[in-house]
Amino acid sequence: MPESSGESGRRVLVTGAGRGIGRAIALAFAVPGARIVVAARTASEIASVAEEIEAAGARALPVRMDVTDLASVEHGMALALEFTGGAFDLVVNNAGAFTVVPFEEMSPATWYRLLAVNLNGPFHVSLLALEGLARGQRAHLVNVSSVAGRMPFEGSSAYCATKYGLRGLSDVLRLEWKERGIRVSTLYPGATDTTIFDDVPGEWDRSQMDRPEDVAAVVHAAHFAPDGVDVADLDVPEPRLTPDSRPTSD
Ligand SMILES: NC(=O)c1ccc[n+]([C@@H]2O[C@H](COP(=O)([O-])OP(=O)(O)OC[C@H]3O[C@@H](n4cnc5c(N)ncnc54)[C@H](OP(=O)(O)O)[C@@H]3O)[C@@H](O)[C@H]2O)c1
Repeated sequence: MPESSGESGRRVLVTGAGRGIGRAIALAFAVPGARIVVAARTASEIASVAEEIEAAGARALPVRMDVTDLASVEHGMALALEFTGGAFDLVVNNAGAFTVVPFEEMSPATWYRLLAVNLNGPFHVSLLALEGLARGQRAHLVNVSSVAGRMPFEGSSAYCATKYGLRGLSDVLRLEWKERGIRVSTLYPGATDTTIFDDVPGEWDRSQMDRPEDVAAVVHAAHFAPDGVDVADLDVPEPRLTPDSRPTSD
């Protein structure tokens, strides 16, 4: 298996990579020489993203993985590590679920589901990816939180609880894994135009949202930032210009 060297040899695992932000992150690292593991539950979506990655000249492995299920993560991680030669340079805990519901209407099933995807998922994946990360080159774990991991939004009790919690997990792993040379980032995207809004009640103006590629660019820049650059907390700099607000001439 190739040793990782520079941008081209990255060994990457992205969860929730079948669509949305995860797909964009996986594609951002798709350069010749890279090996990218595309993990999620929907086989057709991860196969399609893997094809896009291979078309860009990188190697890709679609892996069916339910991050809420430890056995599924164990199985998927074994396949992933075989594909990368036993090391990860970048692991992105991106798989996530969102809901908007007033707290008094929150069903236990919804609460448990969000904790399972947004917190148990990163726990399972981080635990099982650790040895691979420890063998990586300038290894990096990115946990995808949200602006809702830093400030409250009405109707987002479960989502905020999990995304604040993910920040806590990141902060502790950064301390504990420092000696192993593993960098740990928490990413705080704002509203981004993906399918995550499809089943959420309310009017969402997608034209005002960031694009998944905007978020992926932040992860890419942080991953390749020189030593000494603080990549602990990553914001997506500015909302995307909308057609109405975009300047037409200078
Ligand atoms: N979009 C936003 O506005 C926004 C803002 C801030 C933060 N975020 C965060 O960004 C991340 C990605 O969101 P997105 O907007 O790209 O969502 P999305 O379009 O709904 O995509 C979610 C991805 O996660 C996968 N996934 C869901 N449950 C999973 C599970 N149990 N096991 C494995 N994979 C699972 C989905 O695939 P399968 O269903 O096939 O498994 C899909 O590939 C989430 O953590 C989200 O909280 C999003």
